[in-house]
Amino acid sequence: MFDPKEIRKEFPTLNQEVYGKPLIYFDNGATSQKPKVVIDKIQQYYLKDNSNIHRGVHYLSQLATEQYEEARKTIQQYINAETNAQVLFTKGTTDSINLVAFSFGELLNEGDEIIISAMEHHSNIVPWQMLCERKKCVLKVIPINQQGELLIDAYKKLLSDKTKLVSVTHISNTLGTINPIKEIIRLAHSKGAKVLIDGAQSIQHLKIDVQDLDCDFFAFSGHKVFGPTGVGILYGKKELLDAMPPYQGGGDMIEKVSFELTTYNELPHKFEAGTPHIAGGIALGTAFEFLKTLDLDAISKYERELQEYAQEKIEAIEGARIIGKSQNKTSVVSFVIDSIHPFDIGTLLDKQGIAVRTGHHCTQPIMDFYNIPGTIRASFAFYNTFEEVDVFIKALNRSISMLK
Ligand code: ALA
Repeated sequence: MFDPKEIRKEFPTLNQEVYGKPLIYFDNGATSQKPKVVIDKIQQYYLKDNSNIHRGVHYLSQLATEQYEEARKTIQQYINAETNAQVLFTKGTTDSINLVAFSFGELLNEGDEIIISAMEHHSNIVPWQMLCERKKCVLKVIPINQQGELLIDAYKKLLSDKTKLVSVTHISNTLGTINPIKEIIRLAHSKGAKVLIDGAQSIQHLKIDVQDLDCDFFAFSGHKVFGPTGVGILYGKKELLDAMPPYQGGGDMIEKVSFELTTYNELPHKFEAGTPHIAGGIALGTAFEFLKTLDLDAISKYERELQEYAQEKIEAIEGARIIGKSQNKTSVVSFVIDSIHPFDIGTLLDKQGIAVRTGHHCTQPIMDFYNIPGTIRASFAFYNTFEEVDVFIKALNRSISMLK
């Protein structure tokens, strides 16, 4: 049975006070807290195993290489990728998307079209704008409705034989909307377009099976899925990764270098130039080992209930407006309070021990759509509790009365 109070014990940071109040951490959309096993793994690597990978004949180098490649295998199995070679270590979601924008982008021609959506994080907008400028491609945007849902009919109209890539978020970091990505992928494929899914906000909440989704690329960050910062993953279909040129040149990504001709290493190394975040990769494997011990279906259900409970309580507050009211959403509640700036609420909540994010959440087009400067965002993980939501609502009411 899934018990959030038991799971919390595995996360040392949660057990502390800030400003003399028990910490309530509702900023999981920005980054998650780390279980002790992940922290221990990083410590063990630097205390005992530190060495460079894929390079040394010596004991420590081989030990580090084995652990790093074992982590890759754990992640491959978790997301059900066909092979290890299709699981690339990157710096995070942003890096993964930039890799595709640069490398897959090299295969595009003038006039080719890329479709994103109006609810994308800046990291799934700007790399495509840069690509469009470089290759003279055209960027199209799937609109959203007031509920914060993609307009699938409009998407169908945007799709054409010119569409080469569709890049959309699985779950919106600002609205919490869960997008119908299977349908989005199927429709794109019917036009011969490839699909990148930004899984930064979904891998920690939903079961991900890249083969079942049939996505061409899937990107996520380690730090949002209970692993370290500075490490992430790009999954890609093999024939695409094979066809794509390397993103960066350097050590480890080559087969042979001479001044006349350089040839490239096989996958995944072709896309992994330079010494990576070795401890981070290994500890990310540990984070997935930890997740494997949990019942993800029960967790998904619990997180959704937590979000619905919080949303209902916030909606009942006079002057509050929820931003993002899709029926199909999870783990995120964004809202504004009439005539009060989100930053002021965030600051007062902080003084009461509650961590939320305020601002545009790196989604300025969403703010423009709703004509607001920003939102207050509470984002949950499985270690949060209904009691914490109750304390948060009291603190929110207290903050509002101080500011009105
Ligand atoms: N993308 C992260 C967030 O939504 C940083 O907060």
